[in-house]
Amino acid sequence: MKLLIAGGQVVTADGSTDADVLVDDGRVAWVGRVPGADADADRVIDARGKLVMPGAVDMHTHLEAPNNEIREAAIDALTCDDYHDGSIAAIVGGTTTLVDFATQNPGDGLIDSLEQCRAKLAARPLATDIGLHMIVADLGVPGAEAELAALCDEGVTSFKLFMAYKESPLMIDDDTLFRVAQVAAANDAVVVVHAESGDAINVLQRQAVAAGDTAAIWHARTRPPATEAEAVNRAIELCRVAGAALYIMHVSSAEALAVIERAKRGGARVRAETCTHYLYVDESWLERPPEEACKFVFTPPPRSADDREALWDALARGVLDVVSTDHCPYTLEQKRGGAHSFMATPNGVPGVENRLEVMFELGVRGGRLSPSRLVELLCTEPARLYGMHPSKGTLSPGADGDVVIFDPAAERTLSVDSQISTADFCVFEGLRVSGSVDTVVRGGQVVVENREYLADPGLGGFLARQRSAQAFRIGQPTEA
Ligand code: URP
Ligand code: ZN
Repeated sequence: MKLLIAGGQVVTADGSTDADVLVDDGRVAWVGRVPGADADADRVIDARGKLVMPGAVDMHTHLEAPNNEIREAAIDALTCDDYHDGSIAAIVGGTTTLVDFATQNPGDGLIDSLEQCRAKLAARPLATDIGLHMIVADLGVPGAEAELAALCDEGVTSFKLFMAYKESPLMIDDDTLFRVAQVAAANDAVVVVHAESGDAINVLQRQAVAAGDTAAIWHARTRPPATEAEAVNRAIELCRVAGAALYIMHVSSAEALAVIERAKRGGARVRAETCTHYLYVDESWLERPPEEACKFVFTPPPRSADDREALWDALARGVLDVVSTDHCPYTLEQKRGGAHSFMATPNGVPGVENRLEVMFELGVRGGRLSPSRLVELLCTEPARLYGMHPSKGTLSPGADGDVVIFDPAAERTLSVDSQISTADFCVFEGLRVSGSVDTVVRGGQVVVENREYLADPGLGGFLARQRSAQAFRIGQPTEA
């Protein structure tokens, strides 16, 4: 099957150019202008006036995942999108590849944990490819370090560590962080951290609860920016000693950015992301009435408007490398079941389908990012840093035929009314965007048109990734 996407403006991390894209037998065959190529194609899509981009890659989602921090067992806190739901929401929004998490609970073997997760993935029809990071909670199980190395042969080449969530089984200590970093360094794998000072936050939380301070705003007040900056610094230094490549998830504050920038300038092999909601929501949203405020309890918490501006600046200057979604969707019933106390509210928000449109509106239309920097942040860097490039994240010949045709003139208003995720609220409710996903091609097949998934729901599957620590080569942010 030959699909010609004709007449569009092709946008990659290297720049924008007027060109046609031919996808043949599931892969990009060439990018350029060849007169008469349409005569040879099985289908031609007219992309005049549209942007043609690589399918986006989101390497931070939590599908059918248990909540890490929740204290009240009465609340069913499994995220409400299963792998199937999440993959459909993602692809309608222009994201053709996800990386989610397999979780090792304490006492369990790492390979067993991966197999259980892969069995769940195999049981769901997936619209996208889904890779997995391994959440490592316990190195005390026999053979854990050897199993970590073996995970890399299975295509699970990144190890996620929670430095927060003290009362959950997942928070690790520095001993574990350092030993995992050593194994990662020896295997060209990547250490991924949720960087917040779990011990200090736990003390602040207990003090707030004892004082009767349980409103949603205390979610932010018990996790001040310094607790993020401290953990970011600790992870950077421990990984530097171990010689490991480090990726910091969901950076939210100017204080943490300053630590990352200093480390990058000093040559540390560190990369970092922020997530779409930190670029839109701020801390004041937690001061809304409890039934509203509970929607915006996510971790790290929303910060000040100044922090938000610092994140935009960091994206433009290369202090930050990726924008992910941390899609962690709960229903209003789940959220509001814990609205009486920030300690009972399941933390996380939906957003996997919104990232491209929100970033185009706020970033490109807002004059903060060029279209090619947008593609770099949403497609190319996540693919490169996580062992999927050049099959994913770019449109060079040989790449997978995952293509988004984006109409910069199409306007729509983001709302739960048109949301694909099963979450029944939208973080970006009412945001008017000028620019929308028109058509999505996956593996050379048109799978989305008019915001509708048209194809067989089972086209995707588990994606084994390459070892990618070498992609964390030293790179300098530009000057402020
Ligand atoms: O609030 C968040 N981010 N929930 C998802 C779990 C995590 O910490 O990433
Ligand atoms: Zn996290």
